[in-house]
Amino acid sequence: MDMELSLEKLLFNLNTLAELGEEITSPKDFTRVVKSSLYMVMGSFSASRGIIFQYDQDDKVLFPIASKGLGDVKGVTLKLGSNTIKEIIKYNKPLDLKGAEPLVGLLGPSRAELEKFGAKALAFLVVKEELLGMIAINEKFSGEDFSVYDLQLLSVMAQHIAFSLHSHTLLMRLMHKYTENKGLYENLRRIYYDTIHAFAAAIDAKDAYTKGHSHRVSAYCSVVAREMGWSSEDIEGIRISGLLHDIGKIAVDKTIINKASPLTSNECRELNSHPVIGYEILSRIKFPWKGIPMMTRNHHEKVDGSGYPDRLKKSDIPVGARVMALVDAFDAMTTDRPYRPRLSFKEAIDEVKDNFNKQFDPEVVHPFISVIRKEVMGEAENPSIIPLMHEHLDPVTINRLFEGFPRLI
Ligand SMILES: [Fe+2]
Repeated sequence: MDMELSLEKLLFNLNTLAELGEEITSPKDFTRVVKSSLYMVMGSFSASRGIIFQYDQDDKVLFPIASKGLGDVKGVTLKLGSNTIKEIIKYNKPLDLKGAEPLVGLLGPSRAELEKFGAKALAFLVVKEELLGMIAINEKFSGEDFSVYDLQLLSVMAQHIAFSLHSHTLLMRLMHKYTENKGLYENLRRIYYDTIHAFAAAIDAKDAYTKGHSHRVSAYCSVVAREMGWSSEDIEGIRISGLLHDIGKIAVDKTIINKASPLTSNECRELNSHPVIGYEILSRIKFPWKGIPMMTRNHHEKVDGSGYPDRLKKSDIPVGARVMALVDAFDAMTTDRPYRPRLSFKEAIDEVKDNFNKQFDPEVVHPFISVIRKEVMGEAENPSIIPLMHEHLDPVTINRLFEGFPRLI
């Protein structure tokens, strides 16, 4: 009969262990896993009260993370001396609080605190020589003392819980590191963008007439690139490039940039050197996006090969530079210049039409007018071009203007 009972108990305990393993590896939230693990341990010994503590490495105290039958345990902490912790790690076996092991004595005031809870047996949660917590339960329902077998079973169960706590602790540390690194990365990113914006403002500040030009070119570039189906990474690249495309003007005399009368050939040469100077400045910077120096170098090229500095034709010009060439010229046309007032929207579009496939690439012009049309028709989610225009554009005018626009060649 006894034999049958112990076999039954053994099977029950094996089953509980299997369930405990399953529970611990389940994707449930950690608090629930710890709670149900405690209930399973208590169930194995028919104990009515139990508690699991977690060890706080910084404050060097154990604090409860799950309990049953003990009422409110919030704020309860157990302090253990560093020597006691060393002994716990060395001993690493469950303790019968009624036992005579020297460790029981080493628990000091924590022992009295545990006895207040009615704790009779406890097991420390130790992984890789690190104390992670403790589980304590009160007497067995049967009133019997804890046998060696019981303490062994408690030890195995405690190991399961310890590994779960270990994984959770690692995950929490990793999350903490991740949040910390993410914060640092966000700070760096903000500094990076602030620096680029400061550069753009410094470039535009040299030209009394083109305030905000770099920001507008940047905004136009990104909407056209989006319309052309570019990846978000490439869109970000051209957005940044737009902010910096005239950076070479930093080296050009301010009086030349702001001169109202026609430029001499020397002045013209100096002004036209800005794409190459910009390229030289930007090619020394390791940007996380492709092509920024080349877009800067070639933003004054024309598809018929009459642009500068490299006199490139059509597809030899990087596509980003072709986008930039169009929107840069469009913004120049639609804003006041020292030598002429701004053109109306219609005049600017007529200019684009006249220079279709000469200065401007048809493959870029079409997405550009398509975006404008969508914005005027109210089909664009975030209109970027129309709000920058100085006149009201209505669908009828726009449709008439775009009608008969040369087709792709
Ligand atoms: Fe330029």
